Order: sequence, then structure tokens, then C-alpha cells
Amino acid sequence: MVISAVAEGAYEDQTKVYIVYLGAIAHNHANLVTASHVAMLASLFGSEKDARESMVYSYRHGFSGFAAHMTDREAKKLSEHPEVVQVMPNRYYEMKTTRTFNYLGLYESTGKELLLDANMGEDVIIGVIDSGVWPESVSFNDKGLGPIPSRWKGKCVDGEEFVATKHCNKKLIGARYYIPSHMKKNKTGMTSDENDYMSARDSDVHGTHVASIAGGAFVPNVSNTVFGVGTARGGAPSARIAVYKVCWKIFGNDECASMDILKAMDDAIEDGVDVMSLSLGTSIPLLTETYKDNMLSYGAFHAISNGIPVLFAGGNDGPRAYTVDNIAPWVITVAATSLDRWFPTPLKLGNNVTILARAPYKGLEIQADFMYVESPNKITGAAKGKVVLAFLKKSADVYDYNLGIRKFGLKALIIASERDDNVEVVDIPIILNIDYEQGATMLNYISSTSSPTIKISSAITLSGPLVATKVAVFSSRGPNSVSPYVLKPDVAAPGVAILGASTPFMVSSENGFIALSGTSMSTPVVAGVVALLRAIHRDWSPAAIHSALVTTASTTDPYGEPIFADGFSEKLADPFDFGGGLVNPTKAADPGLVYNASAEDYMRFLCASGYDERSIGKMANKSDMYHCPSPRPSMLELNLPSITIPFLDRDVTVTRTVTNVGPIVSKYMVIVKPPLGVEITVTPNILLFNPLVQKLSFEVTVSTTHKSNSIYYFGSITWTDGSHFVSIPLSVRTERLMYFNH
Ligand SMILES: *[C@@H]1O[C@H](CO)[C@@H](O)[C@H](O)[C@H]1NC(C)=O
Ligand SMILES: *[C@@H]1O[C@H](CO)[C@@H](O)[C@H](O)[C@H]1NC(C)=O
Ligand SMILES: *[C@@H]1O[C@H](CO)[C@@H](O)[C@H](O)[C@H]1NC(C)=O
Ligand SMILES: *[C@@H]1O[C@H](CO)[C@@H](O)[C@H](O)[C@H]1NC(C)=O
Ligand SMILES: *[C@@H]1O[C@H](CO)[C@@H](O)[C@H](O)[C@H]1NC(C)=O
Repeated sequence: MVISAVAEGAYEDQTKVYIVYLGAIAHNHANLVTASHVAMLASLFGSEKDARESMVYSYRHGFSGFAAHMTDREAKKLSEHPEVVQVMPNRYYEMKTTRTFNYLGLYESTGKELLLDANMGEDVIIGVIDSGVWPESVSFNDKGLGPIPSRWKGKCVDGEEFVATKHCNKKLIGARYYIPSHMKKNKTGMTSDENDYMSARDSDVHGTHVASIAGGAFVPNVSNTVFGVGTARGGAPSARIAVYKVCWKIFGNDECASMDILKAMDDAIEDGVDVMSLSLGTSIPLLTETYKDNMLSYGAFHAISNGIPVLFAGGNDGPRAYTVDNIAPWVITVAATSLDRWFPTPLKLGNNVTILARAPYKGLEIQADFMYVESPNKITGAAKGKVVLAFLKKSADVYDYNLGIRKFGLKALIIASERDDNVEVVDIPIILNIDYEQGATMLNYISSTSSPTIKISSAITLSGPLVATKVAVFSSRGPNSVSPYVLKPDVAAPGVAILGASTPFMVSSENGFIALSGTSMSTPVVAGVVALLRAIHRDWSPAAIHSALVTTASTTDPYGEPIFADGFSEKLADPFDFGGGLVNPTKAADPGLVYNASAEDYMRFLCASGYDERSIGKMANKSDMYHCPSPRPSMLELNLPSITIPFLDRDVTVTRTVTNVGPIVSKYMVIVKPPLGVEITVTPNILLFNPLVQKLSFEVTVSTTHKSNSIYYFGSITWTDGSHFVSIPLSVRTERLMYFNH
């Protein structure tokens, strides 16, 4: 009930859009729900006319609430209304792409068998909430697809350069758009903006790309002049796609308003999507935010209560800790890894030593004199026509080096930097990124000879076991800063240089395709996998699917090598980098056991988080107050497919329950890998399932031998029947000294 964005005593009379969340749907008819919203606003403003004029949206299908213009004072007043769960100002989300690469990466993340078992996802509808779609892309052709599933209730809405009868088909079955209320109105009083289409048509590339990764059709022979030919396809190539455009170019920026996203979620629940994918998030700092203040968490809660799994991008604020976004326990939060393909640029020094620069250079071979500069202002006319080596000391210097390249006619600039990979890859001027270690080798060479030279060739393609899979440097990391008991991210999927459909606005696309990077790209990879799982296991809850993804994820790459986490220094990836690990679609379809949870379990988690009983009751049930157990449960009780103990002091016992989804009669044994300095006891250590017993609980007792505060240490608990390995990550930190005056 807190309006955290409004400082007491700092009220203004100006109105802004507030979102008012009222919980579950109370009436069985959408019009009645809206009438109750108008009535609530009318009692605030004193007139029904003002109420209707101020209202932007009425959320009335999946959940109840509205968005309306009001002053801070009015918002505060509404927040005290007994019917209201939460009032928050509208805010803006970003799309989670990092940058483009001028080459194609090709991925094959889904096994053939799974695709066949799931009939390529033909009966599944993926809802993509993003910047719209370029419907002409071959990725959205509906060749060979059967009729649209009859349960589909969504719409394809006409708009600027978007004709439903022409642009929607049996692949692209839904296209809606939500125009932000503050967008310009033109002379005729209609909303228009020269920067964007007033329709579901994508004026960016993000929405089109993301939709094609999740459910794009097979497109063979997608070629790129340098890096060869391959097949483009979505994770679930026969799935149906419904796009909800919420991200707009406003004043040249891409913005996605929470009030619009929430309306899209409300509609998507009603329309009948089977999976929701949102490659959106806020940026750091997240510390002022809780999942309670994040209105999208409510939308997601009602989606999962309706059986719809919700995927969110974890964000691109890595490699720093505590940066992961979209942290509600009921959503699946996705991290990004690189592929087992790498396109480094060979840099051959005059002494015949070759160093591989990280990013690809595509162009003519360069042979030139080589020199070193200490700082950007040391670039002079002497550098003309040469390749220059520099060490990046602060990231702001990149800009000055860039100026130097243009001003003094450098052939290329090689920058040794931290592994933050932030430097854009461009052809002219050429800037190539290397590590400090490689930089030191080059500097040694330059100072060892009177006439240093260097040859830069076009990038080469490396693939297979030689190339380590890494959690991408940009992928946001745990721990979860808001709910430290909930492990985030949940899983990782490829998100570096992922091939997907493009729009005509992207100069570096070839043949209608482009490779982009970000957790924006890894999220629809998992959405495609979830679509296939839904096709095979119609009756699984969102939590069961969530569990299947996490417990079968791989902590090694496809060649059995460990997965690293790229960052300022490289290390082995841990659960805060990739949750359970790299998604393994084939294994996720047959996990053996699942850690299930129902909406009721999430209510109890809200009790544990200190949420008030009236609000929880409203989320579940309009009429009743929810009765939290007394004493309130611990947050550790939520049956997550992970155990995260942020403040271990005395021994803690955690209960988990597994449901058998494998052979009816099975025997599972436990394998425990304890975190460093932590003792783990699992009781019982054998689980026997039979026709009468398909659900069993076990207790995990965790104790620490650390005498002082520790960092997080990681381990795992794996149940196995010999063929299934159902593994959950353990993250434990000892906290002996939390408060000085304890
Ligand atoms: C106003 O915008 C609408 C919708 O984009 C457009 O159809 C109409 O032609 C515009 N009118 C003027 C006068 O620009
Ligand atoms: C793809 O290209 C190969 C070789 O160029 C050709 O043999 C094949 O027929 C092409 N396939 C399609 C579907 O165009
Ligand atoms: C580098 O290799 C070339 C060709 O193999 C050779 O002619 C040259 O002497 C080598 N230079 C050095 C410094 O080893
Ligand atoms: C998980 O729990 C939900 C809700 O209680 C239930 O409908 C479902 O059958 C359970 N099992 C699986 C495998 O989803
Ligand atoms: C919702 O209300 C019904 C009856 O009104 C009650 O039986 C049920 O337990 C309530 N559910 C929750 C989660 O409070």
C-alpha cells in the first residue's frame, strides 16, 4: 500500500498516469469490471465525466485495475481505498538488446526429437509483448500450417500500414498495439507520430527479431557473404505468434510504458496465449523496487494463475552482481550465454605472433606500421596511416580515441581493455578489442623492434569444442537484490549473435536477417522451448515447466567442458550467473521429477514476505481476506527448484516436495554436492514412487562450519533414478554478523 515514488509533502497538482491494481477479477462480465473502475474514479473526482476522461485503461480480463491521469495527492488518496492493493506511477521499460553484430550466428538449441514429439509446437500460441512485428518477413510465413487453434480469442487489429486480412495469417495470428497516452495527437485529433507506425508494425527491429526467435518458421539458405549459409528458425517453428506492441519510438527513444505492457498482459490472458515472452526490463539500480512495486509482477502472477508461463529477460547490466531484473518467483528469468561459435579477427604481428581480437572485422586485409599511444591526446599526425595500440583506462576515453581516428586518419585502433566488451564493432573506423594480456604482448613486441608492423585479416570462424561456452559478459547477475531467498536468473540460453528476422531499417541485415545480442534474444529461445513443452505436457503448471527447465539445465557445454562466466575476470559460472545452467530442451521434456507450486504456494510466499492479508486475499479472491499461517512461514518454504540461503547462522531445515512425472514406479537416490564449509543432510535419501504415491517431500538440513561471515558458496542436490538427473542449485552464505548492535 506504499506509493514509494511519491515523497511525502512533495505533492504537485500536475497529473500523471498512475496504475491502480485491484487484484483478481470480481465480476463475471468485463463491462461490470470497468463500471466498477469508473465508479471508484468518480468517487475520487466527484464526477463520472471526469472519471471517464482521466481513464487510460481498464484492466478487466486477466486481473482488475486501471490506469488513469491523476495528481500525486489523488493517487495517495486512492491507495488508502479498501479495494486497492497497490498504486504506482506509470514507468518505462527498456528492450534488452545490447548491440548488433555484422555477421550471422546460427544456433540449433532444440533437439530434433523434441521438435517432432511436440509437432514443432503447432498447437501452441506464443504471446510476444514487444515493439511489434514486420509481418512481411519470411519468418512469419504460414506455409504448411493447419487452421488456427479454435480456442484463440485474440485479434489482429488494423492500423497504419497494417491490414489484418493481409498481414495476419496462420502463423501471425494476433497483432494488437497500445498507444501510449502521451503520444502526439495531430490536427484531426488522432494519435500520430512520424517516428513510428500507429499499428502493430515494428519501426525498430527488436519485436520482429524476438518473435522470430521464439516461433519463426524454417527459412533455409539464409546466407551471409562472409560467414556462410545456414537455416534460420524459431525455437518452436510451427508455433503461432501473437504480437502485442507496447514499445514505441517516442522522441527518438524506445520506450515501453508499464501501463501498456500491463494492458497487453491483460489481453493476452483473455486471448488465450500459451506462453508469454517479455524481453523487457528496467535498468539498475533496482534497489528501490520490490516485486510488489513492480506492476508487471501482478500481471505475471495472474498469467501463471491462468496456467500461462511467463518469461522475462534478466537484463544486460552484467557482469556486476545484484543486477538481475524481473525477479518474481513465479516468472522464468533468463540469462544469456555465447554460442559454441566465435568469429575472432586475427592480428598478425611483424614477429609472426598472431593474436585473436574478440570481435569480428569484416573487410579488406590491412597491412600497416604499428605504434602505441599512452592516451587519446597522444594521437598526433604521426599516427596517420598506421594501426595504433592503446590501453583503455576509463571507458569515456573510447570517445576521444574515436575522434583521434577520424582526425588523424588512423588505419585502425586496437584497444586493450577489461573484458567488458563494450566497444562497438564497426568497419570504419576500425576499433578492435583485445584483453590486457594480449595488449601487453603487443606492447612488448612494439618496444622490441624499430619498425613494428601488423596485419589485420578478416575474421575467421571457429566452432565446436575449441570454443568455450560462456555466460555473456552483459548478462545480468544475481544475487536477487529484492528477494534474496529466490534464485535469479533461473536459466540461461544462447543470447550472443542470435540470428533472427530483421526489418528494412537495419543497415547491417542481410537477406532480411540479422544477428543481435542480449538477454532479449535468450528469452525467446526459452519461450520457444516452453512452447514445445506445453505442446507435449498440456496439463503441466507453469511451476512444473519452470522446474523442468531448471533441474535439467546443463552446467557444462555440449562437449562436457565447464561453462565460464565472462566478466572483468573469467571464472566458472555459478547459479547467480546462469541459475540451473544452460537450458537443455530435450531433457526438460522428460525431467523425471518436478518441484511444483500453485498460486496458493505463492500466496504463502507473499505472507512470508510480509505482505498484508487483505492484499493477498484480493490477489486470489475478491471477497475474502487471506489468512496467513501464524507464525508467518519462512521464504525458504516456497517449493522452488533451488535453495538459496542468504543469511545462514544456526542450522536451517528446508522442505521440498517433488512430483513424479516419469515412470509411475521409480526409485530415486540423492547425490549431494555441499557448498564449501556447509553441511547438508537430506532425509530421506531415497524416494520411492508407486501408483499410490506420486508426490513426496524431503528435508534438507543445512549447517555451516564458517565462523565468520562468508561469501556465497554453491552446491547442488540431485535426485536420480539412474536415467533422470533432477538437480537443483544450492547457494549458501553464512551471516554471523549482520547487525553490530545485535
Ligand atoms: C492524423 O493521424 C492519423 C493516424 O495516423 C492519420 O490517418 C491522419 O491522416 C492524420 N491527419 C493529419 C491531418 O495529419
Ligand atoms: C539451398 O542451397 C543449396 C546449395 O546452394 C541448394 O542445393 C538447395 O536447393 C537450396 N535449398 C533451398 C530450399 O533453396
Ligand atoms: C615470419 O614468417 C615468414 C614467412 O614464414 C618468414 O619469412 C619470416 O622470417 C618470419 N619472421 C620472423 C621474425 O620470424
Ligand atoms: C502442479 O500443480 C498444479 C496446481 O496445483 C496442478 O494443476 C498440476 O497438476 C500439478 N502437477 C504438474 C506436473 O503440473
Ligand atoms: C476464495 O474464496 C473461496 C470462497 O469464496 C474460498 O473457498 C477459497 O478458499 C478462497 N481462496 C483463497 C486463496 O483465499
